[in-house]
Amino acid sequence: MKIPDPHIIVIFGASGDLTKRKLIPAIHQLYINHLLPDKFAIIGTSRTPLTDEEFRKRMIEFLPPEGESNAKFLENIFYQTIDYELQDDYSKLGKRLESLKESLNIPANYLFYLSTPPNLYDVIPEKLALAGLNTQSDGFRRLIIEKPFGTNLKSAKLLNISLLKNYEENQIFRIDHYLGKETVQNLMVTRFANGIFEPVWNRNFIERVEITSAESLGVEGRGGYYDHSGAMRDMVQNHLLQMVGMVAMEPPVVIEADAIRHEVMKVFQSLRPIKPEEIQQHVIRGQYTASTIKGEAVAGYREESGVDPGSHTETYVAMKFFIDNWRWAGVPFFIRTGKKLPTRVTEIVIEFKPTPHHLFDQTGNDQSKPNQLIIRIQPDEGILLKFNTKEPGAGFKVNQVNMDFHYSSLTDIQLPAAYERLILDALHGDATLFSRGDNVEAAWNFIQPILNAWENDPSIPIYGYPAGTWGPLESDDLIEGTMTWRYPCKNLSDDGLYCEL
Ligand code: BG6
Repeated sequence: MKIPDPHIIVIFGASGDLTKRKLIPAIHQLYINHLLPDKFAIIGTSRTPLTDEEFRKRMIEFLPPEGESNAKFLENIFYQTIDYELQDDYSKLGKRLESLKESLNIPANYLFYLSTPPNLYDVIPEKLALAGLNTQSDGFRRLIIEKPFGTNLKSAKLLNISLLKNYEENQIFRIDHYLGKETVQNLMVTRFANGIFEPVWNRNFIERVEITSAESLGVEGRGGYYDHSGAMRDMVQNHLLQMVGMVAMEPPVVIEADAIRHEVMKVFQSLRPIKPEEIQQHVIRGQYTASTIKGEAVAGYREESGVDPGSHTETYVAMKFFIDNWRWAGVPFFIRTGKKLPTRVTEIVIEFKPTPHHLFDQTGNDQSKPNQLIIRIQPDEGILLKFNTKEPGAGFKVNQVNMDFHYSSLTDIQLPAAYERLILDALHGDATLFSRGDNVEAAWNFIQPILNAWENDPSIPIYGYPAGTWGPLESDDLIEGTMTWRYPCKNLSDDGLYCEL
């Protein structure tokens, strides 16, 4: 495995939740897996005044308990207080980088991680540039930017313009942590390293594609942020559309950042815009209401702290759309995501067309169902193929059975966390698993008319759904005929309406 060059990572927003829960543990894991160079440093920065020692103490509780390597790892961590608006503080940061570089004998390779509120995503890079910290004459200078990348099409465009004033596209790493998930990357391998799938991966054989990203948690103390965002901005514009891109793209010429992102871009450009008059019918929004789960009273969204008691923010979205290109013409894509659903699960269902003739109907008990290939992103990561077999015994009774692969069966392999992979890739300068500026804008372009309609047309309903259920019943009407969504459970091969809550 290639080891990145010695470097310094600067985390902006280091007193926040993401740093403690995801970033430091991910960098630590890279460290204990020997994927970091001998020489590296991390500088945490935020408004909170802290010493290096105090910051280290705060981080230690998020490392594995009594890990032998913890003390050694923490020696590489430093802290610098910053007022994000004050240019002077960026010069001070520059000096700190300079002195660490000298004392630790690290070249001037800097990765700036923006884990701050999004209103600082243009301020910090601009001020870093004014302090001369964007030029790559003596080492790399890279920016990782957390989501949300803009709050609408206009702000995403403005943010891109502002960043590209001082940085090249290849210095900018826009995070979509779903792309860092092992199973999302495996989608490419499943499609392009197997001879059996790609020939049938098109409108001639596929009836529909379904993507579900369900969460059992609610807004968990993030009501203030979430109430201005909603499921469409929080999950659909980024994570769900990126998965659509991976499922629907053409084979890239090579496995390289631009080749892949180019193919994803073509998918986004082919998304058929949903017309204003179709929105109510093709896009269902919902909000969870109070209910009782396992005998316990659960608050509704409007009762959550930080949420407007009259809020119209959606905690659930289900939608149907088409990709107007040669491969996918006429194949409906159904996607849905929501909070406070019965279980946490993300999966992609490829449903194949039924057989042209129902041969076993003659017996009056043909139970054959369409074949489905289910790609499980999380949890119980794996792949499941549903197909029909004959029930042993007299006659021809048809039953659907499962053929399944679970990542957990690869016992000696531990799936790396998304942030580990993404930070390592950014250190290598590999942007394959990051969103390109034009991709992000294209994704916004698709959903912006829906957001506009929701904002401007009060007649479009927002349906309530009791916390702990699968969302508004109206989302079932998106799927015509007798077919329904798959109702997945925590375990890949189980399904049905009544799985664990
Ligand atoms: C984040 C959203 O991007 O993704 C959260 O802001 C959501 O609201 C989370 O809970 C889901 O990520 P994961 O990896 O737990 O599926």
